[in-house]
Amino acid sequence: MNRKLTFLAVLCPLLFSSSSCTNREALGRSDDPKGGKAKTNDKLESVSPHVLPPLPFKEDALEPVISAKTISFHHGKHQKGYVDNLNKLVVGTDFAGMPLEKIITETAGKVDRTAIFNNAAQAWNHAFYWRSLSPKGGGEPPAALKQKIEASFGSLDACKKELATAAMGQFGSGWAWLVQDGDKLKVVKTGNADVPMTAGLKPLLVLDVWEHAYYLDYQNRRVDYVNTVLDKLINWAFAAENLD
Ligand SMILES: [Fe+2]
Repeated sequence: MNRKLTFLAVLCPLLFSSSSCTNREALGRSDDPKGGKAKTNDKLESVSPHVLPPLPFKEDALEPVISAKTISFHHGKHQKGYVDNLNKLVVGTDFAGMPLEKIITETAGKVDRTAIFNNAAQAWNHAFYWRSLSPKGGGEPPAALKQKIEASFGSLDACKKELATAAMGQFGSGWAWLVQDGDKLKVVKTGNADVPMTAGLKPLLVLDVWEHAYYLDYQNRRVDYVNTVLDKLINWAFAAENLD
């Protein structure tokens, strides 16, 4: 299976599993029939103009771990900026009207398409990040996920420690991911806007370690943000939904 097909095969079940935030919302899909260009016949496809998906919780729902102020800026300014920039960048290009996930695969690794890739991937990453957090997060994963975690890492604590190490070890901006690679679960980190799907890895959950994710609440103490989120907010149920 070539790289693009691998990506889509990995992504499609993930994007359309059930959740408190629908996947159409999570991916910034416009369901407004007057909202833009003609849609494809495939109901699973998203098209531009991409819209900022709503949060799957209230802005203050993650307090005191992540403040409403951080969520407001992060979602309403940073993520919105990526969505708005993407819509501007694709005007008059082959990417106008293209589904978000396809834009990512089509632009990954192409130096002349870096700006489109960055904004498309960041739009996707943030939608995925919000769903990786929950006011009722932390605690124990669902049984099926816990079994896979224990098989791959030895214990839940070891998995969390590896996620924290990846989050702390990412120099500068980026992301720490729990991914599925065949039968195994792994932790990987990516820089800036990069995504694991282009390497054939299926994301299960992600931590945003860009400074804008934590600086208002934790300043330079990324370690406190990471460990507290892993203990209190991480949405194991969402990760479990994404398992093959
Ligand atoms: Fe972010």
